[in-house]
Amino acid sequence: MIKKTLSVRDALLHVVDEGQGPPLLLIHGFPLNQRMWEFQILEFAKTHRVICPDLAGFGLSQCGEPRLDLRSHAEDISDILDALNVRERVVFCGLSMGGYIGWEFWKQYPEKISKIIACNTRAASDSLEVARGRRIAAKSIFNTGTQILAQQMAPRLLYSNPQERIKTIQLSVEQMIESTSPDSIAAGQLAMSNRSDATAWLPMIDCPTLFVGGQYDEITTTQEMSSNAALICNAQFVEIKTAGHLTPLEQPDSFNYQVLEFLNSNR
Ligand code: MLT
Repeated sequence: MIKKTLSVRDALLHVVDEGQGPPLLLIHGFPLNQRMWEFQILEFAKTHRVICPDLAGFGLSQCGEPRLDLRSHAEDISDILDALNVRERVVFCGLSMGGYIGWEFWKQYPEKISKIIACNTRAASDSLEVARGRRIAAKSIFNTGTQILAQQMAPRLLYSNPQERIKTIQLSVEQMIESTSPDSIAAGQLAMSNRSDATAWLPMIDCPTLFVGGQYDEITTTQEMSSNAALICNAQFVEIKTAGHLTPLEQPDSFNYQVLEFLNSNR
């Protein structure tokens, strides 16, 4: 896999840049990194140029100032495209926090997007109670540590099913969470708690949009996702069976099938 380190403002961003064809961004969720797309990168790179960064502060990417709002991540992504000399419109595929960043990216740079893939994500901002919980979590991570967070959080992200394979995935998710610095976890929580409510933007989105939800996702329900899809004129919603919040990792075959259908359609 082709990996690059790009100097973007005050950050050194680690980016996988694989394949040729129409550009496709894969943007990870919180508090994960680009490794969550391990079953997608090579598959999608058969027909697309896959650009898959670790966001600033996550994975192998470093930054001077922590990103305390999602717009800064959207700006980093735009700078990545410039640094890679990508001039065409891109497909923006983001999962959960990556999807929240996707709405912000659309708001700032609508001319840069050809299609949107919104995975296990929502347009609404946090309720006051959820935002308060995030601010508390942002402080407590410095005492709790990332190992305990990983053990508490990984089972919530995945649909528990008795297969052996899911244990390996859980371990990999735990490792991603555990290796994220408390500073970046705190910054991510604060950035998400401050995010804009994108619900009113949805009727203005006119590019083809695919929502992908997990049947048993407790964090972003399929009901909420299909209601969001109904607000975009050219959107469709698909449910991935036997999956929780991390559909690309949990059910890669079904996920990839749905995404490739959408990527290759003329919608
Ligand atoms: C994620 O997967 O990015 C998070 O669950 C998003 C969130 O906490 O709202």
